[in-house]
This record gives sequence, structure tokens and C-alpha cells, in this order.
Amino acid sequence: MQELAYVVADVADLGAWRTFVERVLGAGLVDTPDGVTVRLDERAARLVLRRAELDGPVVAGWEVAGERAARDLAARAGVAAIPGGPQEAAARGVDGFVAFDDPAGQRLELCWGPFETAEPFVGARPHGGFRTGELGLGHAVWSLDEAGPARRFYQDVLGFRPSDYATVPGELYFFHVNPRHHSLALGQLGFVGLHHLMVEVLDFDDLGRSYDAAIEGGWPIISSLGRHTNDHVTSFYVRTPSNWAVEVGWGGRLILDEAAWEVRELTEGPSLWGHERTWVSDEMKVRQRELRHQAAAQNLRAPLHLPGRTAADVDGVPLR
Ligand SMILES: [Fe+2]
Repeated sequence: MQELAYVVADVADLGAWRTFVERVLGAGLVDTPDGVTVRLDERAARLVLRRAELDGPVVAGWEVAGERAARDLAARAGVAAIPGGPQEAAARGVDGFVAFDDPAGQRLELCWGPFETAEPFVGARPHGGFRTGELGLGHAVWSLDEAGPARRFYQDVLGFRPSDYATVPGELYFFHVNPRHHSLALGQLGFVGLHHLMVEVLDFDDLGRSYDAAIEGGWPIISSLGRHTNDHVTSFYVRTPSNWAVEVGWGGRLILDEAAWEVRELTEGPSLWGHERTWVSDEMKVRQRELRHQAAAQNLRAPLHLPGRTAADVDGVPLR
């Protein structure tokens, strides 16, 4: 397993999505016969949004070394993998893929041979770009009725490696497949489906500009600006037109030494500061605030992880 390559979703309000992608994410948008494709980098497709009557479940495309690897993994999973057609593969910007369901009934795809476009990434507004490459598109967090079987499936069958986990204030299991701290998380958040997709910007100022655009456009911010305790990402969460959220983040830590990495339980809560959530119960809000107060009282801090860029690399007008 190499990376989260893309996500595919049927969306009911393509017009709202266009505005969301252009204004809030500042990403590139390409019209297709079925909807739109979102570009975050040199790859042809990172989000494939298809026009539909109703919003559909989000399908993750996980990249493997090749067709053989995909078929071997599907066989190991003991599932009948549905081969993707050439047109469907082209829409996802890959040579091919197979599809099947995880134990929670969530569809996933194993893909290979991503192709790059001849054109460099151009955002809908001046944008420093997204942190992808070997780290993949970002991360996806799913809520399931029962996390256990899916957890074992992703870990033991598909080879996702545990990063860390939380049991308080809710159960959440984080997994990595490359140096990104997590590309997948599974939890029980009271519904079945994608909770959020995280995309990481290279330049800190683009995080702020996305935040501004979300506020100005009246997009529901379901988690205020804050910093996570496990991946150290500074981010906010905004609800998309399809009800699931996008986390726009910056400065994630990497797991570079796999042998030295210790899987631990996150006892200090999900966030060092911020991330005031609109979508949790009042009781949970109080609990999460208590955890943040504790983190502050204990003087907990996380190092900054500059994503491989110095001031000289920032493709913009430097502020004096
Ligand atoms: Fe996240």
C-alpha cells in the first residue's frame, strides 16, 4: 500500500461544490462530462466528483505497486474484486483499479499507474500548492458502526500500519502507509460514512486564506482553527456541500523512522488548542475543553514541522 491516491463521490449540488473547491480550497477544477475533477498537484485527479441526484458515499482509491499487487491484496481479503473499466480508470487518472467493500460495507478501490498531466498545478487563486507526492492526497477518517472488524481488515489484510489511537473522548484508530502520520483513521462517531478528508497546504498563509474564504462564504466551520496532538497539524474543518467535511491543514509531522515509532494511546485529547467542535454533544464539548485546559496547564507543546520549504521557496511576494 503506497498512498491515498484519490477519492470519488457522487454529489447532488455540483454548483456548490465548484464554488467550494475554487473559493475555500483554492484548488484546480477541470470540467468532465460527468461532473468535475479536482486537481491538487501534477496528478490528473485527486477528487472525482460526479453529478448525481443524491450525495453518495465517498470511495477512497488506495494506490498499490501494480495490477498484480491489487489482485493479490483482493485475494488475501477473500473478496471478489470488481475490475474498473478503462473509462472509469481514466476518470480517476490511473491505469486501472479494482473495487470491493471493507467489512463495514464501505467501498474502496485499489489502483495503480497514476498518470500526471503535462500542465503544472494551477490553483483557482494564487496558491503555494498542496503537500502530496509520496505522502498521497491527505488523509480520510471514517466513522463506522463497529470499528473492530474494519481495523483488523485494514491492518492485517491490507497492511496499513498503526500510528496511534485514542479511547477518550472516543475510540479512534490512526494508520499510516507512508511517512504521513496517518492516511486513514477509523472510529465510531455515531454514523456510517466519511467524516472528513484532510488536505495539507504547503504554505501556512494558504491555510489562513482558506479559513477566510470559508468564513466569508458562510461555509459551516465544524471545527475551529486548532492543532492536533498526534499529527501536529494546524487545521480547521469545514462542511462540504455533501455534508462530510474537509480538514484544511498545514505542517503535519512525518513518521520517518518506522523502527523507532511507538504506537501509543493518545491520552491528552485530540487537540493541543483550538478545534472547538460544533458537531459534538455539550457534554463532549466540556470534556474536550477540559483536556485542552489540562494540556495548557501542563505546558504541552509540539515542534513545528515546516514542510520542506524555506522563505526562498515560497512562490509569492514576500512580506517585508
Ligand atoms: Fe484529520
